Amino acid sequence: MNRRGFIKAGLAAGAAGLLGPARLARAQTGDSLTRYLDHLPVPPVLRPGHGTNRVVMTEFRQQLHSQMPPTKLWGYNGIYPGPTIEVRAGQSVDFQWESNLPLNHLLQSAVDHELHGANMGAPEVRNVVHLHGARVLPHSDGFPEAWFTPGFKHTGPAFDGKLYTYTNGQPATSLWYHDHALGITRLNVLTGLAGFYLIRDDQEDSLNLPDGDYEIPLLIQDRLFNGDGSLLYPIVTDGTQEVWIPEFFGDTVLVNGKVWPHLDVEPRKYRFRMLNGSNARFYHMTLVESTKSGQLLGNKPAPVFNQIGTDGGLLPAPVKLTELLMAPAERFDIVIDFSDQDGKNFVLTNDGPAPFPGGGEVVPTEVMQFRVSKRLSGRDTSSVPKVLNPLQLLSRHDAVQTRDLELSELDRDSDGFPIVGLLDGLRWGDGVTETPKAGTTEVWNLVNTTGDAHPIHVHLVEFQVLERQPFSQDFWDAHRKIQYTGPPQAPASNERPARKDTVISYPGLVTKIIAKFDLPQGTHASPGQRFHYVWHCHILEHEDNEMMRPMDVIA
Ligand code: C2O
Ligand code: CU
Ligand code: CU
Repeated sequence: MNRRGFIKAGLAAGAAGLLGPARLARAQTGDSLTRYLDHLPVPPVLRPGHGTNRVVMTEFRQQLHSQMPPTKLWGYNGIYPGPTIEVRAGQSVDFQWESNLPLNHLLQSAVDHELHGANMGAPEVRNVVHLHGARVLPHSDGFPEAWFTPGFKHTGPAFDGKLYTYTNGQPATSLWYHDHALGITRLNVLTGLAGFYLIRDDQEDSLNLPDGDYEIPLLIQDRLFNGDGSLLYPIVTDGTQEVWIPEFFGDTVLVNGKVWPHLDVEPRKYRFRMLNGSNARFYHMTLVESTKSGQLLGNKPAPVFNQIGTDGGLLPAPVKLTELLMAPAERFDIVIDFSDQDGKNFVLTNDGPAPFPGGGEVVPTEVMQFRVSKRLSGRDTSSVPKVLNPLQLLSRHDAVQTRDLELSELDRDSDGFPIVGLLDGLRWGDGVTETPKAGTTEVWNLVNTTGDAHPIHVHLVEFQVLERQPFSQDFWDAHRKIQYTGPPQAPASNERPARKDTVISYPGLVTKIIAKFDLPQGTHASPGQRFHYVWHCHILEHEDNEMMRPMDVIA
């Protein structure tokens, strides 16, 4: 079997009919929807209190664009995106996630019973909630087999109680919560099960960053719609599974649950907490001046992006960028200064190839619009300090273990259609092989032998990106050893120094990350005790089809 070729896979999927329904939907929705018609919604804030904070998953209808009928969705507490949960660092909160969802899946035709965890006999609707980027104990981490059904009638083999405790023992940052049920995460998230979770602390408060009305979360997700406004998730019936597709790519982009919205801003600084919550799409974004209706005025200078934070919190110092490359699950904390831009409009454009970086599938070229249409309501006294939150760099000399971990893909011989994605050649159900000792530091070399980039996420820890380096595929195939074929490449300016939990592993390169595997603060562990977590590709179609592995941190 062929081992490379997510690029080819994209084309194969087209041949197999993946692009068929996508094109149809595009004609019915994407092309006909007026850009920037609707205001950007901001999800309501949920500040958890003492005792158990209950959040319920339900089915409801919500209008995602004013020219579209309301769409049937699933969401937390009846909204999409879910409420933005806000806590202080060190504040311990208890949550109980519950489901009042129907027993049949909203995207029933796309449920694939040949995928791990979704086999015949498993309840069709299963959910579990993961707080992405949080340092928590396993029983609160949303292990993919800790799922439950409506009313907790059935629970998965790893289910360990309804109550989750988030101790928030980490610096201020933007986390997000989303569904993580084995074999069906891609469909559950697509229905709307995602929301922000912000941790704040005194250190961040002391920086005088834009806040209040001037701090806005932006959850970016692509979707496909049928003509009646219902969600469309394409299926392939002559693929390598029942109906699984290798990646979901939509032709419309939603921000905070609205298709191509606009935001009216004052001529001042704004802080945007950006999250790519898409199943598979990478966005490569720039800010381009436009007319109010969205016609691009290409040659005019636009404000820069001041990136002040990423997955695990504030950067040591701001990084100025004119373009943003965001993989699924990555968070970018950005300040844009609209001072002196009165009356101007700016479109956040996208030209990120899909799949990334090889391309072949539909690419929606716009994300949203900013209109500097509001009068300044008061002097902008906020700042972007030169020093944000210093970071101690981990040294590879501290690493007690280096793991070479292969990212690979098995493809069908006849047409290259992907069968599964694998991590280190193993499947979800194979025994645990990544067993870092608690408190120790390890280097993981992500050896990407596929034709695509994969956003790799490790639960529990924040890691640091060391470097990337080209390697010989042939030598790897023959010996399963790394032979470098060129010099190391420095990470992007917003990748190091930075606290990351998701990293882009590019094809043809070894991506080297370093992490200290500390258990959550205050954990009482007996020697040898195992703490179960996971690491995986955050392209949800890959995660659902074997590109996820268990990981045990051993005390
Ligand atoms: Cu955002 Cu294990 O996932
Ligand atoms: Cu996570
Ligand atoms: Cu992947």
